[in-house]
Amino acid sequence: MNITMIGTGYVGLVTGTCFSEFGHHVTCVDKIPEKIEKLLQGEIPIYEPGLDVLVEKNVKEGRLNFTTDPSEAIPDSDAVFLAVGTPTSRRGDGYADLTYVFEAAREIAPYLKDYTVIVNKSTVPVGTARQVARIVKESNPDADFDMASNPEFLREGAAINDFMRPDRVVIGVESQRAEEVLRDIYRPLYLIETPIVCTTIETAELTKYAANAFLAMKISFINEIANVCEAVGADVTALAKAIGMDGRIGPKFLHPGPGYGGSCFPKDTLALLRIVQEYGENVRLVEAAVEVNAAQKARMVKKIREAIGGSETGKTIAFLGLTFKPETDDMREAPSITIIPALMEKGARIKAHDPQGMEEAKRYLPDGIEYVKNAYEACKDADAAVLMTEWNQYRSLDLERIKRLLKQPVFIDLRNVYDPETMKRLGFRYTGVGRGV
Ligand code: UDX
Repeated sequence: MNITMIGTGYVGLVTGTCFSEFGHHVTCVDKIPEKIEKLLQGEIPIYEPGLDVLVEKNVKEGRLNFTTDPSEAIPDSDAVFLAVGTPTSRRGDGYADLTYVFEAAREIAPYLKDYTVIVNKSTVPVGTARQVARIVKESNPDADFDMASNPEFLREGAAINDFMRPDRVVIGVESQRAEEVLRDIYRPLYLIETPIVCTTIETAELTKYAANAFLAMKISFINEIANVCEAVGADVTALAKAIGMDGRIGPKFLHPGPGYGGSCFPKDTLALLRIVQEYGENVRLVEAAVEVNAAQKARMVKKIREAIGGSETGKTIAFLGLTFKPETDDMREAPSITIIPALMEKGARIKAHDPQGMEEAKRYLPDGIEYVKNAYEACKDADAAVLMTEWNQYRSLDLERIKRLLKQPVFIDLRNVYDPETMKRLGFRYTGVGRGV
């Protein structure tokens, strides 16, 4: 199959590359010439494990190409995927900003030749596919095309594996012909018997929001239960394990922490709230999940303050990790963006390390943070260490060394990586999340 991918952001680049790995011919189009030039030279603009190798391989084998010119591949494409950004609108009302999607629709329209399926990969409100179809028809009344929706469920840091071994593929179509094209594109997954849920375009569009909202709710739920554990003297780790063993609940996304961040959950939960409002409906559970998440981040500031003796003024705090999760350099909506400035405002000095995210972090965090080479440098002469992101390299720290380096042995583990008993035995004043025992 010949595929054009519009947008070489996170989703477009991973999806386009993986399609080429499936054996399809993929052309990725982006408006930004510098981005395309870098990609042509094999430079990957994001950190995603394994992506560089796959890009290099498929470029070399002639199945993956990058260009700024949409006319290059669209006329011969069986499918054109739209994978452009849908950030939260600058109006601050939570709506998804669809400017890039509509722009992309206008740009591809003139080049459509023969039958083509236009597939929306971007996370968009229900009804967007129909708007895209209208724009394409207005720009090119002769275009022979069908619209489709094919939401992505990739996790940053695990995107390649998620793409190659998905739990399911969701396809929203309104014609048999479009369904066949999409089934052909995903045919390589038949070998591993990946279920394909074929449904209407509206259902597919809403599925993405519902999936993300549910996972966000699950995290906010366990975060609230963690807080209850602290109050009553219970251990959330054992509790989560126990409830997760119930097949109806499942063990995943039950890890308490400083609140969820990233490019999807915060944006998509807000967008869902706006969508349902327009229809006069409510999703109160999702509303609560959003509120709980904001409160959880604020609670972490209090937790750190209490652990270092009631005031952060004049104290040095070492942050291990800054990104919203490990294996990414993405800082979007990372809890560190809320927590660190709140501490700095009250006069805390921050030393920070992150294996991949420090460059990005500088764009999101206030000036004055001392960025250092590793966890040990961060802890040197600090009043407390905060484990913010559970990178593998922080999972097996030389704890004796950390203790010696710290001015006082205060360890605040916002990801519950370490065992409280062991930490206490080592002489740390240890605080986790939801470990009230
Ligand atoms: C998410 C969805 O998982 C993915 O399907 C969708 O396509 C995009 O959004 P991503 O944002 O990359 O993926 O990361 P994910 O691993 O889902 O984590 C999101 C946030 O939730 C992170 O901040 C993470 O630390 C937090 N989280 C996750 C928890 O706090 N506890 C958990 O148990 C799981």
